[in-house]
Amino acid sequence: MERVKNVKILVVGSGGREHALAWKFAQSENVSVVYVAPGNGGTATAAKLENVDIDPMDFDALCSFAKAHQIELTVVGPEGPLVAGIQAAFARFGLACLAPSADAAQLEGSKTFSKEFLARHNIPTARFSSFTDPSAAKTFAQELGLPVVIKADGLAAGKGVVVAQSLAAAEAAIDDMLLGNAFGRAGARVVVEAFLVGEEASFIVLADGTDFHAFATSQDHKAIFNGDQGPNTGGMGAYSPAPVVTQAVSERICEQIIAPTLQGLLSEGIHYTGFLYAGLMIDALGAPSVIEFNCRFGDPETQPIMMRLESDLAEVCLAAVEHRLAEETLAFSPKAALAVVLASAGYPGDYEVGAPISGLSEVQDAVVFHAGTRLLDGVLTTNGGRVLTVAATADSVEQAQRLVYQAVKAIQFEGQYHRDDIGYRAIDREAR
Ligand code: AMP
Ligand code: GLY
Repeated sequence: MERVKNVKILVVGSGGREHALAWKFAQSENVSVVYVAPGNGGTATAAKLENVDIDPMDFDALCSFAKAHQIELTVVGPEGPLVAGIQAAFARFGLACLAPSADAAQLEGSKTFSKEFLARHNIPTARFSSFTDPSAAKTFAQELGLPVVIKADGLAAGKGVVVAQSLAAAEAAIDDMLLGNAFGRAGARVVVEAFLVGEEASFIVLADGTDFHAFATSQDHKAIFNGDQGPNTGGMGAYSPAPVVTQAVSERICEQIIAPTLQGLLSEGIHYTGFLYAGLMIDALGAPSVIEFNCRFGDPETQPIMMRLESDLAEVCLAAVEHRLAEETLAFSPKAALAVVLASAGYPGDYEVGAPISGLSEVQDAVVFHAGTRLLDGVLTTNGGRVLTVAATADSVEQAQRLVYQAVKAIQFEGQYHRDDIGYRAIDREAR
């Protein structure tokens, strides 16, 4: 295939995931510029990257920009615009946008939709039922036994899930979501499901409607505190590969989960094009079950995965939107990569922004991806809950972890918080 030259790319979003995608796109010699809308303090200054001040939900403005700047490919980071139908908005202008349709994005947008879809297609997942009535939800929670998992139906930025260790906690979560309006419309319906035992892994693929290629495996740490304790966040750190996903487990995931999901969608008239993220529980025998689907790349999983990706991301993404993914492959470095999130004190609850960030120029042997940062008059300040992701590659997860924490020491901002144990499960496995 003849390679396209001077490709212009638009990345939609402003987090660490978008910085990592843009960073990887920019490495392609065929890519001339990567616009990031709206981007952050890191994408503002990186080589070949340029911020564009457009809100990710403002589809008209994004499409006008893409048209005016002859963007060959738009890639969408966050779920909000995907669930709201950004794909169709771009399609109306004949613009290439690597994104599942709003229908396909329901796999993430509605837990009830995704659980019923899984059940319909006999794809392994925890036993569940979905409710609007609190007393029926509580009866089912009791029937399932403890621990039991209560989930807000809609988008809740990774925070709408309660793993209840007691019936009282389950009932409180159900009341909070259904009556207390804890998650607004997202919580108007809840899914009550059985607790799955095992080790979690993230399995992310790029699909073109019929074919797919798997990215390197990864694992993230969702809980805010060391030892995976405390409330869930969007993700406090991640690494790749996930040792729990052996080659055999990976094949099982493709055969028993990814392929039947894409087939099942096709049988319902949905061509899934874009990134598909399966959050999985792998049991002691290596059997995978779906915990959740996301219709996008993971954050912070993207950061270690992009550090290991050797293929030209622009080329494979263009192949995916043109439905010719079978022509391409995804190659990864055999090295391990690990990423640690530096957050603002208080996250995932309330936090302050506006603290100056220093020390980035002293970072060695690691890459710093920005998330909640802002560059104003040459001063870099915090601007979100998750502020930076520090990532490194090495021969083992343990060595990558050492490099990252060494680099983290150089970076300062008031209220900086990070976990100290990212990767501990993989490091335990490496030591066995
Ligand atoms: P979700 O947003 O559905 O991925 O859930 C967030 C987190 O809650 C997951 O990453 C798991 O750690 C946990 N979780 C969700 N559902 C289950 C389940 N059925 N069994 C065990 N843990 C779960
Ligand atoms: N790190 C989990 C997510 O992106 O949903």
